[in-house]
Amino acid sequence: MASTAINPASDALSPADLLASRRSIVPDALVGPGPSRAEIDRLVEIALRVPDHGRLSPWRLILVAGETKDRWVERLLALADTREDAAKVRVSTRKLACAPLVVVVVSAAIPGHKVPEWEQWLSAGAMCMNLLNGAHAMGYGANWLTGWHAYDAQATALLGLEEGQKVAGVVLVGSIAEPATPRPRVGAEDVARWLTL
Ligand SMILES: Cc1cc2nc3c(=O)[nH]c(=O)nc-3n(C[C@H](O)[C@H](O)[C@H](O)COP(=O)(O)O)c2cc1C
Repeated sequence: MASTAINPASDALSPADLLASRRSIVPDALVGPGPSRAEIDRLVEIALRVPDHGRLSPWRLILVAGETKDRWVERLLALADTREDAAKVRVSTRKLACAPLVVVVVSAAIPGHKVPEWEQWLSAGAMCMNLLNGAHAMGYGANWLTGWHAYDAQATALLGLEEGQKVAGVVLVGSIAEPATPRPRVGAEDVARWLTL
């Protein structure tokens, strides 16, 4: 059965307005119901529509949901407790608990390839962005996180990452319990300019 996403923005807006209206939803406000299996397949399809210089597929996706997600968070919390900064990292670990779907985007860049690794990393980042916009367009909220568990070797081992693979993003997806308010953004005049020669 299709789940009922609650994103007031997604139905009424043109595609351009939809893209211009995306906001990250705080993890606690990402709740069930999450996307259905068919919607997750669609989201993955959107994620894979990513530019990829040399067609290297320098990324992998790991979908985490249901009881596996609960076990993953429990094991991360156990790892968090072994760290000196346990109190702090427990807080960021708990951010993973609420959202019904977590998509871990893994950079699987090929070192030494004629396509620079930098470009392969960018492709993984673009995949995270596609997931955010895809979720938004489908009426769900999302948030692109990393956190200690993206960089800790024992934590990434839980995901089965291979040598050289890196977590590009831990993308939380769920229905929106509390819409985000607009945040101040830099103006185009601060960061964009026309080249004049
Ligand atoms: C690579 C990357 C990693 C991020 N990791 C975190 C994170 O661990 N925790 C966090 O609160 N925000 C993180 N953010 C920021 C959020 O994704 C988001 O951009 C921020 O909450 C601002 O919201 P907005 O997307 O509505 O502008 C990260 C962003 C990027 C690009």
